[in-house]
Order: sequence, then C-alpha cells, then structure tokens
Amino acid sequence: MRVHLETFGCQMNRLDGELVAGALRSAGHEMVDGARDADAVLYNTCSVRRHAEEKVFSRLGADARRKRDGRPLLIGVLGCMAQRLGERIRRRCPAVGLVCGPGQLARLPELLAEAQNGRVVVALDAKRGEPQAGGADALDLSRDPSATPSPAQAYVRVMRGCDNFCTYCIVPYVRGPEQSRDPAHVEAEVRRLVDAGRSEITLLGQTVNRYRWRADGPEVRFSDLLARLSPVAGLRRLRFVTSHPIDFTDDLLAAMRDLPNVCPYIHCPAQSGSDAVLKRMNRGYTRAAYDDLVDRARETVPGVVLAGDFIVGFPAETEEDHAASAELIRRSAYKNTFVFKYSPRPGTTAAKSLPDDVPTTVKKRRNLELLAVQEEVGLAHHRAYIGQTVEVLAEGPSARASKQPRQPRPGETQLTGRTRGGHIVVFDGSPSLAGRYVNVEITDATSLTLMGRTTTG
Ligand code: SAH
Ligand code: SF4
Ligand code: F3S
Repeated sequence: MRVHLETFGCQMNRLDGELVAGALRSAGHEMVDGARDADAVLYNTCSVRRHAEEKVFSRLGADARRKRDGRPLLIGVLGCMAQRLGERIRRRCPAVGLVCGPGQLARLPELLAEAQNGRVVVALDAKRGEPQAGGADALDLSRDPSATPSPAQAYVRVMRGCDNFCTYCIVPYVRGPEQSRDPAHVEAEVRRLVDAGRSEITLLGQTVNRYRWRADGPEVRFSDLLARLSPVAGLRRLRFVTSHPIDFTDDLLAAMRDLPNVCPYIHCPAQSGSDAVLKRMNRGYTRAAYDDLVDRARETVPGVVLAGDFIVGFPAETEEDHAASAELIRRSAYKNTFVFKYSPRPGTTAAKSLPDDVPTTVKKRRNLELLAVQEEVGLAHHRAYIGQTVEVLAEGPSARASKQPRQPRPGETQLTGRTRGGHIVVFDGSPSLAGRYVNVEITDATSLTLMGRTTTG
C-alpha cells in the first residue's frame, strides 16, 4: 500500500513515527508524502493539549470527505490520542478504520494488514497495573539504523511512560507506566546507529534523567548509562531530553562535566516559578529547589545551556504567581522557553478537581508576557556568543535559503546547524557540509539564533 504518515507531538512521538515508517517499509509498503496519492493515511497523534487533538480531527474530517467521494482510503489514528479516546474516535469520525495505542506500534504492520481486509481494528495498551503485552522496546529493537531522517543525528529511547502524574498532564494516562530499557539494548542500538554514521545521539524519555535499571548487580542510574555510552567510538555528541528537576542529581551534573561528548544542554521544565502553583501541579519540588538546581548546574558544568517550559493560566494562578514565573525566566537565563496556555485534559486530576478559572484573554496576555521576558533573556544569552568560535553540526539549507535577498558566494547557500549547547546557527556554506562538523565564528545574534561565518571547511 502507499501509506502517508503524519506525526504530531513530542520527540518521542517523532521517533515512534520514524520507527513505524521503517517497519512499514520493511513490510513492503511505500511511504508517500501527502494524503493525496495514499491508500492509507495514518496520524501519529498527541493529546497533550486540546489544540493538538483538534488538528487531527480536522485532518480526519477532510479524509472522511474524500472517502465519501468514493476514494478507497484506510484511515488510522496511532499514538496518544488513540490511547486516550479508543473506540470514541470512531464515534466522532466513523471513517476511521484503525486505532492503535503507542505501546502497540510494533504490531502495526499486522494490524494494518487486518484493517486492509476491511476489519475495524482497535488495539490499545493495557490499563495501568495490568500486564503489558510485548516488551517495552519491541519497536526499538526492530530498528533499521540507516533509516533516520537525518544523516548525522538520531534519537534513541531509553525509557517509556511516566509515573509523575503532574496534575495537568495526560502523558501518564496515555503512555502508561514508567519503564526503563535494558542498558545493553540501549548501548547496542547506539552502536548500530553510530556505525551507520550517526555521530549525534539524543536519548529520549518523558523524564529521561529518571532512567534506572535494576537486574542483578547494582542499579544503573542515568549518569551510569551516560558513562556507558560515552566511550562508543565515533559518538561525538550525546544529548538527552526531557529532564525532570527532581531527578537532576549531582552525579548527573558531574557526568555532564566529566564525559567529553555529553553536551552541556539541559531542558528541564520548571512549569511555574510559584510554590503555590508547583504544589497544585504536583511537581514535587519548590521554587528554591529549582533555583538550587540552576545554580548547581552553572557551577558544575562549564558553559551549560538551559531551556525551560512554562504553563500559564493554571487554575487559580494569580498575578503574583505569574510574576514569579517571569522572574524565574530571568534568573535561569534560559536559551529558550516553551510557554503553553493551560489546557484541561479530561481525566487528569486538575481537570477533575481544579476549575479552569483563568480567562482565555488572561492566559493569552500572560503567555505573551512570558515570551517577551524570554525574548530579552534569549537575546542577551545569544549575544554573549558574538566573537566566539563554536562547533556546529551542519544540518542543511535553512528554511529561508531560497528566499534570501542576497546570494551567498557561488556554490554556497544559507545553512543551519546546532552547537553543542543546542543553539541554532545560520551561516553560509556549501550544501555538501550537511551532516559535518564545522567551526563557525559568531558575528551576530537574535533572541533565538546565532549568525556567523565558517572558519574551517
Ligand atoms: N515529559 C516532559 C514533557 C511533557 S509534555 C516533562 O515532564 O517535562 C511537554 C510540555 O507540555 C510540558 O512540559 C508542559 O509545559 C506542557 N503541558 C503538559 N500538559 C499540559 C496541559 N494540560 N496544558 C498546557 N500545557 C501542558
Ligand atoms: Fe507529564 Fe509531569 Fe510526566 Fe512530564 S513529568 S510527562 S509533565 S506527568
Ligand atoms: Fe503528546 Fe504523547 Fe508526546 S501526549 S507530548 S505525543 S507523549
């Protein structure tokens, strides 16, 4: 079949999408861009905010209309929304023929074959507390290391699920209980990817730094896993996202300092700068503890770069609470911050017990205010690099390359890449640099980007 797959949501979902596409190709299907020429359209979905789900429903609506117009089309919903809504997706959109939870994706080729035969297939993960079918990493183990979208970069899952139950968050319900992978499996996957030319590996988990593996012998902590992976020959950069503040222990900061290829980048969402809000969110730390983490990180890891997430308009958030979040952005001096307007998710503790009482207009204003503070902080952060030469992994032509008013030198185009700290860098160079490391002298900066010229290559 010709299959069109579109992925929404976080990096974990992108990785799932990538692995699923690989598995479908191995099963003989052709992956196509765009729903137009496809025999099957699959959406790998996200439930984290209402908006994420609405986007998928509008896609499903368009596909259902095409199907009504007589086009034979198999419509499938995969991932978090599939798990959250199950059969209910078909009530809202009866044209959907396949619903597959995130833990069932390893079975997707066979499920698709069943659905192709006209059967409605709904495959969901077991409820929490019930035994889960299949291993935690069946999908990962089937991976083709040469099938990553980028020539030099790859994601590797180290754990699934989440047991934190932040009161606003749907993830523990849709992704199930926290399960770490066997470090031997993770190492083998990293080695295969590095052997296939992927020199930058990003380890993924909902709370990646809570990774822990117990078999016989001592417990393997996340810092131990980094120490085990770091010596892999050819691995130039080892990254990880997303971290939880409570699990950012000193052994991990020391590992970041001591292991040369572990990148000095920490994405560690605070969500709020106010103790009262953090408590209602069940985040498990105080503002003082978060400040202490930032201080320890800056003291221990030279040149560490921080990124954060904030939610504005959480139930009962006051102007003082909001001011505390703005102040935390300044204090943490983040490279960048993701700011989200609180969106009640059915079934979560917050949606059940805390009224969504901050008006939309106030949420919007607070969102813009935090972004404005971050813009200032981000500009100062990026401008501090002007005059420095940084190592950049070139990724390819920038989105604006074709619209550039001024053409770079012949044979060159505008490229983008990333520093070890995760900064986006825009510079002129030959497109053949994609996937290579170059030194770039930084000459200018905006609040989100560094600009510069290559000094090598
Ligand atoms: N596992 C990661 C991220 C989970 S979701 C972590 O724990 O950090 C990514 C981000 O979405 C969160 O950090 C949070 O800022 C935001 N988010 C989650 N649920 C939300 C909700 N109900 N409304 C608005 N933002 C939400
Ligand atoms: Fe959601 Fe909290 Fe788990 Fe992150 S740590 S995935 S925000 S429940
Ligand atoms: Fe969304 Fe699921 Fe990721 S809800 S953020 S795709 S884990």
